[in-house]
Amino acid sequence: MSCHLLIPAAGKGTRMGSDRNKLLLPLLGKPILAWTLQAAIAAEAISWIGVIGQPYDLPDFEQIFKRLASPKPIQWVQGGTTRQESVYNGMQALPSDAKQVLIHDGARCLATPELFNRCDRAFADFEGFIAAIPVKDTIKVVKDQVIVDTPTRDNLWAAQTPQGFLVDPLKQAHAKAKELGWVVTDDAALFEKVGLAVNIVAGEETNLKVTTPQDLAIAEFILNHR
Ligand code: CTP
Ligand code: MG
Repeated sequence: MSCHLLIPAAGKGTRMGSDRNKLLLPLLGKPILAWTLQAAIAAEAISWIGVIGQPYDLPDFEQIFKRLASPKPIQWVQGGTTRQESVYNGMQALPSDAKQVLIHDGARCLATPELFNRCDRAFADFEGFIAAIPVKDTIKVVKDQVIVDTPTRDNLWAAQTPQGFLVDPLKQAHAKAKELGWVVTDDAALFEKVGLAVNIVAGEETNLKVTTPQDLAIAEFILNHR
């Protein structure tokens, strides 16, 4: 039990079409964020959890933390206007003894404790890695409504979280991104941009990111069949 976990949870949930942070919406009677936290708390590998949120959501987050009665420390960290900024803030808030960090989207509320533990074990072999699964669809690269390329499917993986990194190089990559104005959608992309290797760890097919109302219905179906 040695791994620090950051959970970006400071989004708006625009694509969900809800008037509040989607992570506060109920899924089988519990907020989405509570499901994510519950799995992280159950994962033996995780020793500390940082939840990155917006100040206006703090009262609701605190209520979730209280209900979960976690034996592990859960620290709230103020988020930014983008996911990248939110993770940057989270990195600054890590305890000074944190050498390795897992970053896991609050919206991936179906990730299992086993996935967190598997990711923690990957630190034995890799400095940076992401959970991912092979894509099932054929993917087309399209420009102006016309297909310009069909990449070989064997080379295509769908990126998930958790994503794991050694703390120092990820902090440095975030600092460089801030300085040079790089905009990325995940932390692996920052590692790639500074020339560090990012490996693949087996993700989970059910580890979807709840993004739209349809995803919420699918998540409910999956949980009902667990
Ligand atoms: N996130 C964050 N800080 C932001 C934006 C997003 O911590 N400024 C978090 C979200 O809370 C979510 C994760 O990053 O757990 C992945 O983002 P996404 O699924 O895009 O969530 P939202 O940004 O909330 O949704 P949308 O893009 O539809 O507005
Ligand atoms: Mg978003």
